[in-house]
Amino acid sequence: MKVLVTGGAGFIGSHYARRLAASGADVTVLDKLTYAGNLANLEGVAHRFVHGDICDAALVGEVVPGHDLVVNFAAESHVDRSIVGAGDFVTTNVVGVQILMDACMAAKTPRIVQVSTDEVYGSIELGSWSEGASLSPNSPYSAAKAGGDMIALAYARTHGLPVSITRCGNNYGPNQFPEKVIPLFTTNIIEGRKVPLYGDGGNVRDWIHVADHCRGIELVAERGRPGEVYHIAGTAEITNLELTRRLLDALKVDWNEVERVPDRKGHDRRYSLNDDKLRAIGYTPTVEFEQGLADTVRWYQDNPQWWQPLKAAGR
Ligand SMILES: NC(=O)c1ccc[n+]([C@@H]2O[C@H](COP(=O)([O-])OP(=O)(O)OC[C@H]3O[C@@H](n4cnc5c(N)ncnc54)[C@H](O)[C@@H]3O)[C@@H](O)[C@H]2O)c1
Repeated sequence: MKVLVTGGAGFIGSHYARRLAASGADVTVLDKLTYAGNLANLEGVAHRFVHGDICDAALVGEVVPGHDLVVNFAAESHVDRSIVGAGDFVTTNVVGVQILMDACMAAKTPRIVQVSTDEVYGSIELGSWSEGASLSPNSPYSAAKAGGDMIALAYARTHGLPVSITRCGNNYGPNQFPEKVIPLFTTNIIEGRKVPLYGDGGNVRDWIHVADHCRGIELVAERGRPGEVYHIAGTAEITNLELTRRLLDALKVDWNEVERVPDRKGHDRRYSLNDDKLRAIGYTPTVEFEQGLADTVRWYQDNPQWWQPLKAAGR
């Protein structure tokens, strides 16, 4: 099977490409190599690499034909950066999706998965969202992701494009860019620096190991229905305070290492997904949070050569 993984040099896309290559698939990665793209993430992964932008219609039109499956991870992904400047977010997360979907339509690609996020729903105080919940994104990042999702679904309805959408909670694991909370806090502590905790720390996130996320995407590619959305829920719904406490414990330091910082603008309070629909087609998560977090912390402790250059470059 020939699979095109767009954004495959990033955190989740590289784990997905690794999994595919190990299963014997013929993998092509198309990636712009923004600050978040890193060829080191693809070390040991048999693949063909194309350096390029999903917004480049001519290039995408050349690369897409011949693939049995296209999975789109390419995105600007960091909420804080979208608050500083939203331009690249709208360009890649909305226009890029439209250009990719056009290329898939022209190439008659048999199967497409657009990877998305629980953040498109906004914030929920109690209960969990099912796939029919209305979109109410609050950050420029999540608004742009919602735009990309709507374009993909519109192509499914209007043109019969066989695209499904996955929406997932907060991922953690090896190779995550050290601007996101788990690698940021872990590497700060290793470097003897404090960790910046937003606001009152009461924001709740639903954590999923990247390996489980990739298993969910694979299942949707194989058994999901075109034109449908599938949730991939996490295994630990906890506050940022609780997450911080667990990280400090794992790194054997105390609460003195925490520096309270003003809350993120428009910070969503809680995300929560119901993933019954995915479970009905065979999904169950396999990585228990406590073990997954301990393994992840150890990976950053054991691999400073991966993250130190990224932090030193101040990207
Ligand atoms: N990280 C999470 O917790 C999480 C949760 C749910 C959904 N998602 C979604 O999963 C996907 C991957 O997230 P991630 O955390 O791996 O992100 P990441 O920032 O680590 O990686 C994004 C990758 O996309 C590439 N890219 C960016 N713009 C591009 C463009 N215009 N053309 C081609 N490549 C481009 C980057 O170079 C990078 O390799 C995103 O779509 C994100 O919205 C992430």
